[in-house]
Amino acid sequence: MARITFKAVTKRYAGDVVAVRDLDLEIFDKEFVVLLGPSGCGKSTTLNMIAGLEEVTEGELWFDDEIVNTLPPHRRDVAMVFQSYALYPHKSVYENIAFGLRMRRVAAEEIDRRVRDAAAKLEISHLLQRRPSQLSGGQRQRVALGRAMVRQPAVFLMDEPLSNLDAALRISMRAEIKHLHTAMQTTFVYVTHDQAEALTLADRIVVMNDGVIQQIGAPDDIYERPRNTFVASFLGNPPINYLDGTIEGADGAVSFRRGGMRVALPPALAARLRGSPGREVKLGIRPEDVSRHGLGAETPAMEGIVDTVLPVGSDRFLGLKVEGCDVFVRVDKQAHHREGEPVRLALVPERLHVFDKASGLSLLADGAP
Ligand SMILES: Nc1ncnc2c1ncn2[C@@H]1O[C@H](COP(=O)(O)OP(=O)(O)O)[C@@H](O)[C@H]1O
Ligand SMILES: [Mg+2]
Repeated sequence: MARITFKAVTKRYAGDVVAVRDLDLEIFDKEFVVLLGPSGCGKSTTLNMIAGLEEVTEGELWFDDEIVNTLPPHRRDVAMVFQSYALYPHKSVYENIAFGLRMRRVAAEEIDRRVRDAAAKLEISHLLQRRPSQLSGGQRQRVALGRAMVRQPAVFLMDEPLSNLDAALRISMRAEIKHLHTAMQTTFVYVTHDQAEALTLADRIVVMNDGVIQQIGAPDDIYERPRNTFVASFLGNPPINYLDGTIEGADGAVSFRRGGMRVALPPALAARLRGSPGREVKLGIRPEDVSRHGLGAETPAMEGIVDTVLPVGSDRFLGLKVEGCDVFVRVDKQAHHREGEPVRLALVPERLHVFDKASGLSLLADGAP
């Protein structure tokens, strides 16, 4: 059993760098939590505090019902996999995996059983006598995973474990890590700056920026209901588009307006914005939330001029000029638009995002301005 709780945790490094600020987070037993954010946002620091490799400056860190602020790393039931793998070059794969158990004086037969079991799960049984230099990047990564697995920790920590692998391998290893979580039945805390990895792996994602949590939620929740423009922009590739404009209310309807473009907002947004005509907002439109079909006189739509056409096999991306803004959308591959042509696309009203222009907060978020 391993529940990890941060209560108002701040981490300051020497020289007054605040790496993590006032972090409140509860990670549940057996959950797969991904810490996601740009480089330098405090992900590794957060993970290292769980491992006991960095001290908590202020606040409390709990494992289940125990405060662990001063508990040394070897007394925490955690195992960590690093981006660099950190394998012993002169030991065989077998000995690399067995090393942590030998240090703990586990019986030889038990070590053998666990090493072979982990190697079988990771499909590296045939590599046990090799040295790390005789392995590919992906195989080394499996050895690093094996070494953590045999420890049978209550908490499994991973810091960008796939970032040294090539793109194809990264995608297949994602599936393996997901399987590993199911098989191991332990708490996983996984750090990455790769939003696609986070969306694939996580039960819940914790989005961080500048040492501060921006949003915590299930992948769909975060993708579909981002709390602010940082989260909206960080998840999704190609990224969400923004159009600056103002709110207009007329005849009971509430619309977004920019130049000649007017988009009626769906009821939930309209209810929030009815009392604030003239308000400056950003309309957020994800590239996939447009359609060439279902265009009626009443459908919310976007008109623009085609700037670029990029076929990508499965679909087609269009770069548009819409009221002076660059907008990038995804349409089906049957679309035959040419550069310089006007285009009109239906918007999916429930999928529109509206953010306060000044604060960047979503107008549908709790505590919206
Ligand atoms: N040992 C350290 N001493 C001083 N500053 C550090 C140290 N480690 C990290 N930092 C700083 O703390 C911030 C967060 O770093 P880190 O947790 O490594 O971010 P991430 O893993 O998200 O890239 C950064 O500004 C980084 O420069
Ligand atoms: Mg890091």
